[in-house]
Amino acid sequence: MENEINIAATTDAGAATVTPEKVIDIANLTIGFDNVPVLRDFSVQLFEKENLVILGKSGSGKSVLIKCIVRLLNPDSGTIHVLGENVNELNDRNLAELRKKIGFLFQSGALYDSMTIRENLEFPLRRIKKGLSRKQIDEKIIEALENVGLSDTLHKMPSELSGGMRKRASLARTIVVDPMIMLYDEPTTGLDPVTSDEISSLINEVQKKYNTSSIIITHDIECARATADRMIMLNEGEVYLEGTIGEFESSRDEMIQSFFKMKNVNSHSNE
Ligand SMILES: Nc1ncnc2c1ncn2[C@@H]1O[C@H](COP(=O)(O)OP(=O)(O)O)[C@@H](O)[C@H]1O
Ligand SMILES: [Mg+2]
Repeated sequence: MENEINIAATTDAGAATVTPEKVIDIANLTIGFDNVPVLRDFSVQLFEKENLVILGKSGSGKSVLIKCIVRLLNPDSGTIHVLGENVNELNDRNLAELRKKIGFLFQSGALYDSMTIRENLEFPLRRIKKGLSRKQIDEKIIEALENVGLSDTLHKMPSELSGGMRKRASLARTIVVDPMIMLYDEPTTGLDPVTSDEISSLINEVQKKYNTSSIIITHDIECARATADRMIMLNEGEVYLEGTIGEFESSRDEMIQSFFKMKNVNSHSNE
């Protein structure tokens, strides 16, 4: 069968064995809870090295979508291929292997409170990149922290960092293991505008330095503007509009226009 293509090849050197153009391919995804549909016949592709922004107001199913990609949730129907593998047909072992290639930056971005920043980064490295020497581990940790502008926090505890710095540290912890795909869930939510801009820039830098393909879920227009190669608006479980930022901004559609006018306002769902 097709999912015999062995992207993992599990040796470290094999990271670039097969590089499909479509890194993620979601086809006709339907999922709901208690008979309330959240995503309906939803299809989207993520192409190599692209930053795809998925916009949608609160409760529109953005986090559900991300959770389906890493199989924290199972769809009612439809298929999800990630790096050529059908996510819902993988056994536990292969699913675990696939997840190692995906970096998530979740809304909470929780660091381990009782560990230093260094230990927070070392933890996934030891789990995912087996067989690294102490020196290699140190180098990777320092490089990742440098890339997010946090070199001097190595021995700090998460509680000693500001919210923005914790977010950066979470990002460093994610990129330290060289993921092929990055999934950002509301990376700027809860941050002040200046810090939000810094995180948006970091998302772009990470994309360049680590050659990742990324999905950035957000309702922050400024973040979308800063990071998107392509955007999708999710509404009522479907793709409402797809295009470049320019196409969104020049759209005459009322909903798109009002979304863009909201800018950084926290969307309150008025249910
Ligand atoms: N595990 C779950 N069980 C039941 N309902 C859920 C679950 N996860 C999400 N939902 C519902 O699905 C809808 C979309 O949620 P979510 O994807 O978190 O929205 P958002 O776009 O804000 O990330 C919401 O109505 C939410 O209550
Ligand atoms: Mg969410």
